[in-house]
Amino acid sequence: MANRRLPAAWQLAALLLLPLLLAAPRAAAQGSGSSSNSNSTGSSNVDMTAAVNAATAENLASGRARAAANTSFTVPPPPPPGWERARASWYGTPKPFVDTFSPSRGGGESAFGILEWGGCGYTNADGSMPFPRDAVTSFADTNPDFPGSCGRCYEVRCVNGPVLGRNDQAVPAEYWYYFPKYGSAPDDMGRSFPGNPAYKDDYVFVTCWDPSKSVRVHVVDICPCWYEPKGEPPRAQASCCYTNSTNPKSGQREMDLSFWVYEQLAHPMYSEMMLDIRPVDCGSGAALPMSPGYINRDTLYDDMVTTGWSWFPYITPTHNFNVTAPGWGYGGSAAACAEVGPGGGMTWWCRGCNRPGYQPFASASSVSFWVRDRYHPGTAPPLKMMIAQQEDDTYCPGEAYLTSLTPSARGEDGWLQFTLPFDSTFNCGDKKSTRDKISFQSVGGANTWFCLDELKVAQGGSSSSSSTTKK
Ligand SMILES: *[C@@H]1O[C@H](CO)[C@@H](O)[C@H](O)[C@H]1NC(C)=O
Ligand SMILES: *[C@@H]1O[C@H](CO)[C@@H](O)[C@H](O)[C@H]1NC(C)=O
Ligand SMILES: *[C@@H]1O[C@H](CO)[C@@H](O)[C@H](O)[C@H]1NC(C)=O
Ligand SMILES: *[C@@H]1O[C@H](CO)[C@@H](O)[C@H](O)[C@H]1NC(C)=O
Repeated sequence: MANRRLPAAWQLAALLLLPLLLAAPRAAAQGSGSSSNSNSTGSSNVDMTAAVNAATAENLASGRARAAANTSFTVPPPPPPGWERARASWYGTPKPFVDTFSPSRGGGESAFGILEWGGCGYTNADGSMPFPRDAVTSFADTNPDFPGSCGRCYEVRCVNGPVLGRNDQAVPAEYWYYFPKYGSAPDDMGRSFPGNPAYKDDYVFVTCWDPSKSVRVHVVDICPCWYEPKGEPPRAQASCCYTNSTNPKSGQREMDLSFWVYEQLAHPMYSEMMLDIRPVDCGSGAALPMSPGYINRDTLYDDMVTTGWSWFPYITPTHNFNVTAPGWGYGGSAAACAEVGPGGGMTWWCRGCNRPGYQPFASASSVSFWVRDRYHPGTAPPLKMMIAQQEDDTYCPGEAYLTSLTPSARGEDGWLQFTLPFDSTFNCGDKKSTRDKISFQSVGGANTWFCLDELKVAQGGSSSSSSTTKK
């Protein structure tokens, strides 16, 4: 029986990291989207009616007075070809910046989120991550190119102008935690807030430090539109809802940049800024197609988890695992290593990749990898390998027990390579195309400590007829 639950540490972390905690600590009103005494006057203007109505309702409810809102302003021109307009908030707990705002914000400093233990994995047991904090982001799960976004890189630039939401209407300033209302703090570089000239008009107008500056970020976390925290009622996080919400904060591609990315583009006292973004190769920076988003179907691990794949170890009683262990890989490279208890293991999951346009195993002909048992180098660790779809939690019926297979190659230092024909090993049948997870699970009775490297999928196979089982 496969164990599919992530360890408690990850779940706890998931509660803490959500950038959406940046939302104001009160219930958001829903915009009516109708009834108006004003209207937009052309394509360069925006109808704020729904947002204003909603904000007014919210203020009436809270007893605060509100001046008549400015419903007309110029929106920035659309992004150049190959780029998409998006919006960003920030997360991370930058000190001393948050000291100024934490008391009014509520929830303690951890409410500003942490970069580690994100929804893509990528965190070593000691809390270190393979990417610097000034190059990481979270990505909303309703963004159109969300599938396989873990590990994907985007080039991001700030766009001068109003912060927009649903139907490209300006979001009333106080729908966010509106920093300037509660204090003033310089960013890490000592720069003070350049101001919001539109506050009198009830929205946030961002002045970028330099709209031509771009930063390349790795997606390491997820911002769920529909959030189901453990032990709390599920709720919508409107900021991360690209579609399907009537909340004024919804309707935009959302990227929650790390604070240390955000402050390179604009002052962090702006709760949000608009961005131009485009997916790029993490190494060269060359542009990649926007939709469907790029995923690596051929190599899932080589020194690091590749684009498209989240990585998690599970059941790790000794708290000993590394998404990259430099020098511990095949031939002295880096490997993914974990010491797991009985029933524990490691998984590669391409999130959302059951969807058309992604489907990493649709034409898989074989899977190969190098593995090393650190307690018994040169022998196959007691692992079984499975193919699954995480979204509906179904597994292909075939399982590969490494101890009963013959390695396809033996390397120095006790490394073994296995090469498994995809169809005859896993028997996914007509469900093959919608599989998006590979897991290596211990079938041993004691702890197993293993390292994996060069996990690859050869493409070019076809499916046979069989079916999946729900386990
Ligand atoms: C706004 O203007 C458009 C086009 O001029 C019109 O179709 C629409 O009904 C107007 N909306 C309101 C709320 O007045
Ligand atoms: C609306 O806001 C814009 C930008 O802040 C400002 O230039 C304009 O004067 C405002 N209009 C009114 C009627 O307040
Ligand atoms: C959109 O709303 C419908 C109806 O409430 C719901 O069934 C569906 O799950 C929602 N989709 C998302 C992505 O939230
Ligand atoms: C992870 O890395 C740390 C620090 O380099 C090391 O002490 C530990 O043994 C490693 N564990 C695994 C499972 O790779």
